[in-house]
Amino acid sequence: MIQRTFSIIKPDATARNLEGKILAHIQDAGLNVVAMKKIRMTKEQAEGFYYVHKERPFFQSLVDFMTSGPVVCSVLEGENAIENYRAIMGATNPADAAEGTIRKEFAENIEANSVHGSDAPETAEYEIHYFFNNLEITG
Ligand code: PPS
Repeated sequence: MIQRTFSIIKPDATARNLEGKILAHIQDAGLNVVAMKKIRMTKEQAEGFYYVHKERPFFQSLVDFMTSGPVVCSVLEGENAIENYRAIMGATNPADAAEGTIRKEFAENIEANSVHGSDAPETAEYEIHYFFNNLEITG
């Protein structure tokens, strides 16, 4: 099943110029980049993006981190894209991430964990359209 997912390369990774290396992992896994942009999120944008986590103790810290520098937002397309991307990202906490995953290779800690990927089709749909309109998505 060809599917789309939403990805963010987070500020810890852009600060270390890891965009190219992370995109290579993504493309090597058979995922096509059908939309992409580099932005600096506002506090309001980050709070809206993470609203499902607003009651969690780390919410404010996560928003502060995600607005601390530029991020690369992209739409990825491919076979089982949501699950495929989550698999190559690795566990949320890099201490638990499997060898060969993006977070094992690049993430610094559970907050500065280099990448975000949608966790379900409904989330992917919401997240893609939070940052992109249909004219910005190719393919
Ligand atoms: S996940 O990936 O959604 O299943 O994981 P979850 O544990 O639900 O985490 C949701 C997002 O919150 C981030 N996170 C944290 N940030 C700061 N401090 C702590 N302790 C922490 N725990 C989780 C985690 O990286 C997820 O961010 P995204 O951008 O969704 O990957």
